[in-house]
Amino acid sequence: MFQAAAKSVSAASASAASRGILSSVRRYCDKTPTKLRVSEALSAAELGARVKVQGWVRSVRPQKANLFLHVNDGSSLQSLQIVAGSELDDPSLTFGSAVEVTGTLKKSPQQKQPVELEADQIHVVGRCNPLDFPFKIKERHGLEYIRQFPHLRCRTNAFSSLLRVRSEATTAIHSYFKENGFLQIHTPIITSNDCEGAGELFQVEPSGPEHEEDERFFSVPAFLTVSGQLHLEVMSGAFSGVYTFGPTFRAENSQSRRHLAEFYMVEAEVSFTQSLEDLTKVIEDMFRSATEHVLAHCAEDVDLFHKHVTPGHRETVDAMVKKRFPVITYSEAIDILNRSSQKFVFPTDWGCDLQTEHEKHLVKHCGNIPVFVTDYPYDLKPFYARDNSDHPEHTAAAVDLLVPGVGELCGGSLREERLDLLRARLEEAGLEDTYSWYMDLRRFGSVPHGGFGLGFERYLQCILGVDNIKDVIPFPRFSHSCLL
Ligand code: 4AD
Repeated sequence: MFQAAAKSVSAASASAASRGILSSVRRYCDKTPTKLRVSEALSAAELGARVKVQGWVRSVRPQKANLFLHVNDGSSLQSLQIVAGSELDDPSLTFGSAVEVTGTLKKSPQQKQPVELEADQIHVVGRCNPLDFPFKIKERHGLEYIRQFPHLRCRTNAFSSLLRVRSEATTAIHSYFKENGFLQIHTPIITSNDCEGAGELFQVEPSGPEHEEDERFFSVPAFLTVSGQLHLEVMSGAFSGVYTFGPTFRAENSQSRRHLAEFYMVEAEVSFTQSLEDLTKVIEDMFRSATEHVLAHCAEDVDLFHKHVTPGHRETVDAMVKKRFPVITYSEAIDILNRSSQKFVFPTDWGCDLQTEHEKHLVKHCGNIPVFVTDYPYDLKPFYARDNSDHPEHTAAAVDLLVPGVGELCGGSLREERLDLLRARLEEAGLEDTYSWYMDLRRFGSVPHGGFGLGFERYLQCILGVDNIKDVIPFPRFSHSCLL
């Protein structure tokens, strides 16, 4: 509104000025406070300006002559200090209440903050009874405690920091792919494929009595996607690099600290690959570029986690960003595990899947930095993984990235582009009819290609040092829990 008024004023300035209209418009504009976000107010660019700030009260300190408030609007971890005469005090100005404050931005006499807002109006927009509010003023509540209040935990410093980091990391990942020539594809949420073949599917059917007698809505069984990989593979027949970043669903009956029923996955598919190195390079570059971006753009938010949630984690993150990720084969990994003095719960024979305890051990063994494990036993991998037919052991050209504190962060592989081998494997599994369209991709201009999926919540756990995956997603879904 202000800008529009200013523009039309400048166009008509000559005649208006002569009639004295311009000066009266200016007087009106001068009186209208500029609406600022707290982060903008804190930047001190608007010192001396009359401004309006809206947000939620994080602290209240009434004194004899003055009232001090801290107001936060989610734009920054820092809150803006408000100083007002005690006549503006109001019993409904409590921790958690929503307010609109108008006043003048001044340089603060205290070193802790660059500016403060000298208020001449405070309007309580929404009251908050501090006795009922689950968060208490000046208390640092643990992540486990605030997890009980999924509808309110965004009001805490820790969770609002997490949400800013999550948003910034999302931006960084999209930027990485854009800068490197990948095309973003919106792969479907509802699909008739079980990409991973692990049977952890949520089936989709309409609800309500009017549908009970119906045939299947889609005529075929339909599911929430477990991975966008197969749809990306379709696109990799026309584009040399594609990616998708969206929700994926697994009906895993797990209460673990690294599994969710709904999680976000970053998936990419690269055409004309020569070897697994083409994939490990993209994974490592993306990880580094996103992490550097987050450390630079959310420094205070990341610090909050590194100082108060996992002290000492910053050194681990710095090492992850600086050092190259080592690459070992699955067979080397099995050797390392078998030579270790640690006693594992799960077997470590060649052919066994690596469990979290094995993955964490391998990461420690490699210096507590991310490590790629390649060339897994063929039988452990889904039908699409490329057969390493030239290897002495029967392995697939598959790769996992294991990271400190979490274990598996990424899973990927070269895809079997040779029609005869692919057909044989699908026939063995009785899937040749279901995947006849997939075999078509190998009939019409097929190229060697491969891709990977990175669990976005596990990535956030890894860089922030958060132990439980439920603390890095706004609304966690897991077995026996779907709150809100
Ligand atoms: O290893 P996964 O199952 O690989 C795939 O789905 C491939 N189709 C991806 C591809 O090649 N395009 O899953 C990839 C990653 C895992 O490494 C893990 O980080 C994450 O997704 N993930 C989960 N994250 C949270 N909760 C779960 N239940 C997860 N399952 C997998």
